[in-house]
Amino acid sequence: MIDNLMSKRVENLPPYLFVEISRKIAEKRARGEEVISFAIGDPDIPTPSHIIDRLLQAARDPVNHRYPETAGLPRLRQAIAEWYQRRFGVSLDANSEVLPLIGAKEGIAHIALCFIDPGDIALVPDPAYPVYPVSTTLAGGEPYYMPLTAKNNFLPDLEAIPEHAWERAKLLWLNYPNNPTGAVADLDFFNRVVELARQHDVAICHDGPYTEVTFDGYQPVSFLQADGAKEVGVEFHSLSKSYNMTGWRIGMVVGNPIMVDALKRIKSNLDSGIPQAIQYAAIEALTGSQDCIPKHNAIYQRRRDLVVEMLNSIGLEARLPEAGLYIWAKVPQGYTSVDLATDLLEKVGVAVTPGIGYGQNGEGYVRLSLTIPDASLVKGLSRLAEWRSFRIKPKVKE
Ligand SMILES: Cc1ncc(COP(=O)(O)O)c(C=O)c1O
Repeated sequence: MIDNLMSKRVENLPPYLFVEISRKIAEKRARGEEVISFAIGDPDIPTPSHIIDRLLQAARDPVNHRYPETAGLPRLRQAIAEWYQRRFGVSLDANSEVLPLIGAKEGIAHIALCFIDPGDIALVPDPAYPVYPVSTTLAGGEPYYMPLTAKNNFLPDLEAIPEHAWERAKLLWLNYPNNPTGAVADLDFFNRVVELARQHDVAICHDGPYTEVTFDGYQPVSFLQADGAKEVGVEFHSLSKSYNMTGWRIGMVVGNPIMVDALKRIKSNLDSGIPQAIQYAAIEALTGSQDCIPKHNAIYQRRRDLVVEMLNSIGLEARLPEAGLYIWAKVPQGYTSVDLATDLLEKVGVAVTPGIGYGQNGEGYVRLSLTIPDASLVKGLSRLAEWRSFRIKPKVKE
C-alpha cells in the first residue's frame, strides 16, 4: 500500500549504482566467497592520529555536545580560508565566502535547490559523479549532458553547447581532477569557463575534492585561481580524500558570497550543522602537519603503477592519471561495461565499477579505485591476470 504513496521524485530516482554493486558483493561474500573490491573510492588508510586525538579531546568537552551553528565554527571558516590562501594563493573572506558542509556531497546536492526551478537546466558532465544530475532532477530541473571523451582529454567541449541550452542553464558543473576519468584541467580551461559564465549568465559549481591526491609532482589548480572566478562561481572541496576522513563527513564550499549565502539559507532550514568535535578535527587537519599527504600519495602512486600495468597487460587499456584515486580503463571488444564488471566478479571475484553508471559516455569503460589495502591489491592483480584466460578473444587485431 505504501508503494502507491511514493512521490514521483522518489519513483523516478535512478538506482544508485554503488548500492547495486555492494549488494552483489555482499551476496558473494555471504556465500563465503572472497571478493576483492576496486569499486568504491573510500580511502583504506586510517585518518591520521593527530586528527583523531583532536576529535576525541573535543568530543569530551560538553560545549561540543549541543546544536552546532549552520555557518560552522568561525575558527574552522578561518582555517579553510587560510588553507586556500596557502595552497592556491586564493583569498577568501571567512565570514561570507566560506561555508563548511556535512561532506561535499551534501552541499552539492543542496545547491540545486538554490538555483534550479522546474524547466531550468544544469549543464552536467557525462560521465560524472552522479549527484550533479540527480540533484538537478530532484529540484525539478533537467541535466543537459556535456560529453567527456578521450579525444578531448575528458574536458567538456564548451563551444559545442548549443545556444538553447545556455539560455535555460542556471548552473554548470565541473570536476577536476576528475572522477571517474582521472583527467585534470589547467588554468586556461578555467579562465575560458569564467568568460563563458559571464557571457551566458550561468553560475559555475566546480567540485575539487581530489586536488591533494596527485602523482609525479603534478600541481593541480583551483577553479578559484581563474580571473574573476569568484564573481561567477563556487568550489566544493572536502577533507574526505585529502585526510582519509570520508567517515567523519566534513567538506566545504567557497567562493561567490551570494551563492554561499543561498546555500547557507537552504541548509539552515534543513540541517543543524556539523558536529563540533568533527569541526575541531577538521581545523587540526587543515592547520596541523601535512606530512600525511605526500605519504599517502606515494602509496597511491605505487598502486596506480601496478594497476595500470596489469590492466594494459590483460587488454584493458588505461592511462596513468596525474591525480585522483581512479583508473579509467577501456573495456575490450565484445563487452559492455556491465558485462565486463559482471564477468570479473563472477569469474575471478574482482569488483570494478561499470562506466555506464556515470552516464552514457561512461559506456566502454570501467573504473578501478586505488583505495584498496596492499595485501588485497596484490591478490586482486593476480586475479586480473588469471582473468586473461577467460577473456573473449578480439575478432580483429587491436
Ligand atoms: C567528485 C566527487 N565529489 C564529491 C564527493 C563526495 O565527497 P564527500 O565525502 O566530501 O561528501 C566525491 C566522493 O566520492 C566525489 O568523487
